[in-house]
Amino acid sequence: MNTAIYLIAAYLIGSISFALVSSKLFGLADPRTYGSGNPGATNVLRSGNKKAALFTLIGDAAKGWIVVWLGMQYGAQWGLGSMAIAGGSIAVFVGHLWPVFSRFQGGKGVATALGVLLGISPLLGLMVLLTWLLVAFIWRYSSLSAIVAAILAPLYYGLMTGFDVQFIAIVVMSFLLLSRHVQNIGNLARGKESKIGSKKT
Ligand code: G3P
Repeated sequence: MNTAIYLIAAYLIGSISFALVSSKLFGLADPRTYGSGNPGATNVLRSGNKKAALFTLIGDAAKGWIVVWLGMQYGAQWGLGSMAIAGGSIAVFVGHLWPVFSRFQGGKGVATALGVLLGISPLLGLMVLLTWLLVAFIWRYSSLSAIVAAILAPLYYGLMTGFDVQFIAIVVMSFLLLSRHVQNIGNLARGKESKIGSKKT
């Protein structure tokens, strides 16, 4: 019973889109109506409002982090096993991708995945963040950074911790994240992907 409550709560928390919350708070247009149309920090940045983009990034990451952190902190008390916590990390991510509050039209999950990874292990999250930053620093494409980080995240975890149920959850998350970047991959291949900091069109 507790596992079901945890998974449903994780999904509902994941369904809160901080791109939409932040756009409302900062008086911006709905991010689904400009740029890539993605409700995420990168696209909110295309509005030109850096604070709103930062708020989106922190909010979307925090929701992933809190679900995993609570699970790991209180899991034993709540009767949650490692399988339930791994399930929670997928549930919050799935909530972001297919949010019940926005007709199941969500984002690409990059910030939320980062939050989940930080919750699993701050070192793992930091390594993935540094990977993202390094690729962004060199090529200046947010999507390319996310793609590289998503491919390397399971590898980092596997080498650091081993191949357990959380590893499977990270692989699933990476797979879903990559599947959300198909259009970005096409744009990158055609040289049409917009660089970080370019304004909305
Ligand atoms: O954070 C999502 C990013 O990887 C791509 O976003 O808006 O450029 O499609 P976007």
